[in-house]
Amino acid sequence: GISQKPIWIQNISQLVTLASDKKGPRIREEMRELGIIEGGSVWIENGLIQDLGTTREMILKYLHRAEEAEIVDATGKIVTPGLIDPHTHVVFGGSREHEFEMRLEGASYMDIMNAGGGIHATTRKMRSLSEEHIFNQTARRLDLFLQHGVTTLESKSGYGLDLENELKQLRVMRKLHEKHPMDIIPTFMGAHAVPEEYRENPDMFVDLVIEEMIPAVVKENLAKFIDVFCEVDVFTPEQSERVLLAGKEYGLIPKIHADEIEENKGAYVATKVGAISAEHLLKVSDEGIEELAKSGVIACLLPATALYLGEKPARARDIIDAGVPVAISTDCNPGSSPTISMPLVMNLACITMKMTPAESLCAATYNAACALQIEDRVGSIEVGKQADIVLWDVHNHQKLHYIFGVNHVKKVWKKGVKVVG
Ligand code: NIG
Ligand code: FE
Repeated sequence: GISQKPIWIQNISQLVTLASDKKGPRIREEMRELGIIEGGSVWIENGLIQDLGTTREMILKYLHRAEEAEIVDATGKIVTPGLIDPHTHVVFGGSREHEFEMRLEGASYMDIMNAGGGIHATTRKMRSLSEEHIFNQTARRLDLFLQHGVTTLESKSGYGLDLENELKQLRVMRKLHEKHPMDIIPTFMGAHAVPEEYRENPDMFVDLVIEEMIPAVVKENLAKFIDVFCEVDVFTPEQSERVLLAGKEYGLIPKIHADEIEENKGAYVATKVGAISAEHLLKVSDEGIEELAKSGVIACLLPATALYLGEKPARARDIIDAGVPVAISTDCNPGSSPTISMPLVMNLACITMKMTPAESLCAATYNAACALQIEDRVGSIEVGKQADIVLWDVHNHQKLHYIFGVNHVKKVWKKGVKVVG
């Protein structure tokens, strides 16, 4: 609402601002600079961060307005920017626990997909369930994301795989963006899999994506980014490049699922088309990492997916040391990463990829904002930015990562409105 009470958070054990003079994606040691204010305080007004500093400074400035504000005592707790999840497939219907059991008994993710399950199974759900059903199922998932500290997420299409149902999925996203407190940044991913009806003619499907789907998506202004699953037995590097360049011509910003299951020149395609980010990268080569570093592509790493598929984690240390900016994400989807928890992903970034807690937090906030090109309004706590803020029940930021498998979220404000706690 317009005429809300200001919110004044005081005595924050660590106000972790993520503020820095460096604009744009952070690399190497920049990722460890969290801009921490010990004993911090924030004044939120009109949905924005109005002011911040130490509690001592802020009391001098704002004591005369204390009466009109809602005061929050954050003694023994920390505050961070709302988490940002830059890679999800969160809009879907149904679930695939039977495939989980099949994999536990030895089937591989790709075996299941090639046998008509996997993405194809969820595509059948997208095509058969009502928009209302998909909307309601996803809204519950978004509630859980908020409860775990996420205030903005990216969401991909790619479970329609025909014009009508890709538009259906993207329209559900738009409706959720309007009706749910979560900010949703939409990505068109018609090239998520070759649908079964085009199995013998994958190039014809690529033509369909390029000639019909992209123009229709852009005409309705339903996406900001375009993504493709560049993978052995899915889309070749050549097909992936065609799709991404076609999207770019229509004003969509390229992203790419690259080198996830097998090395497939994904990193090269990313640099060639000028992608904002390359995602997964479990099997990226040393040369691929060098390419990404040279062209400033953001690596979006998904440690929950690697864990869930039983794959070796991405080489975050090599990627960071090479100078590639890193973001992290849940990859929330019903097959390879059925989780809504960014805090879990942050734990895993440390435990499985040896990222430091500071790097992990940067990757889940500021660098994630850069991967979505929204860092001018979210991703750090700075005067004038959107008041997307999380209060965590831990004394210092390391504990967020150290104590794992627990939801430490105490309160969440979205655009200055309390949505959790
Ligand atoms: O990022 N890799 C392709 N897409 C998703 C999985 C989607 C699904 O299995 O439904 C991923 O892992
Ligand atoms: Fe994905």
